[in-house]
Amino acid sequence: MLSGFHGEVANFSHPFLLAMKQAPTTVTSRLFRSIVRFWFVVTFLSQLVFAYYVLMVYWRSIAARNWEHWNTVNSHFFVRSDRTGNLVFALHVFFAAIVTLLGPLQLVPQIRSRAPRIHRWCGRVYISTAILMGLSGLYLTWVRSAIGGLQMSIAITFNALIILTTAFFAIRYARARNFKLHQQWAVHLFVAMSGVWMFRVFFMLWMVIHQAPVGFDPDTFTGPFLTALAIGVYIFPQAIVAWYFSARQTYIRWITWGFTLFLLLTTLGIFVGTIGATLGMWLPRI
Ligand code: HEM
Repeated sequence: MLSGFHGEVANFSHPFLLAMKQAPTTVTSRLFRSIVRFWFVVTFLSQLVFAYYVLMVYWRSIAARNWEHWNTVNSHFFVRSDRTGNLVFALHVFFAAIVTLLGPLQLVPQIRSRAPRIHRWCGRVYISTAILMGLSGLYLTWVRSAIGGLQMSIAITFNALIILTTAFFAIRYARARNFKLHQQWAVHLFVAMSGVWMFRVFFMLWMVIHQAPVGFDPDTFTGPFLTALAIGVYIFPQAIVAWYFSARQTYIRWITWGFTLFLLLTTLGIFVGTIGATLGMWLPRI
């Protein structure tokens, strides 16, 4: 799928490295690159905790064949009469840990340059698994019915479509050996794949701030806040990625400053939301 990728571009760097090499060394560009690194480290650590939760709750129960354990998270995850639905759910959560662990690693330039074969194989596994996550997620949403009502189902369906589309273009441009566009689509894919993790982190940030269910009904898990959050994490980040590339490629002052400030605030939100999700949601379920 990605054959010839690294032989062809031995000196080609990841978008993050490119930014570091090509950018003018002004205060604006230095700050921009530092905040991008800060975002990456916080995101990586947060996704590690999420992957740990998935491994401990789902992989452990799958290994022990203790399917009922899924229902400690939500009472409709294991349905005795629905063998196909249970199988799709098992595959979905099995792959969830793999993509969550692999995603950030694909963005580390050192792995890319020092271990290109590993990066290439991880890329194959990541994109194949991303497609399976999108398809299994669609099944769970529309055949099994998901938590959160119609608006949330529509928003996460867009997320699945974005995953499938960005995966398609990431593969297509890798095959066409257009590595610049391949990497841009790969970053779009990574951000789309992070939507589910972002939903949990920003949901818990909201709960940390309000200390109560504000803007949604906790029994039905529906309401304006949840609809806005779903759009904000499943669809809107694609525009942020376009903003990132525009800032990085042009270094037009107001675009770069605006993006840097936005990313700093977002990263602080991820930091606090991760603490909330870890202590209030993930650790108690393990
Ligand atoms: C691509 C990254 C994704 C990851 C890492 C992921 C991860 C997970 C995890 C861990 C769960 C179990 C619930 C929990 O313990 O929090 C879950 C459930 C579920 N996922 Fe995903 N998922 C992803 C994508 C999707 C997509 C794209 C869809 C829909 C199109 C989807 C639909 C669902 C549904 C419907 C459930 C059952 C829970 C519910 O009813 O809302 N997922 N997912």
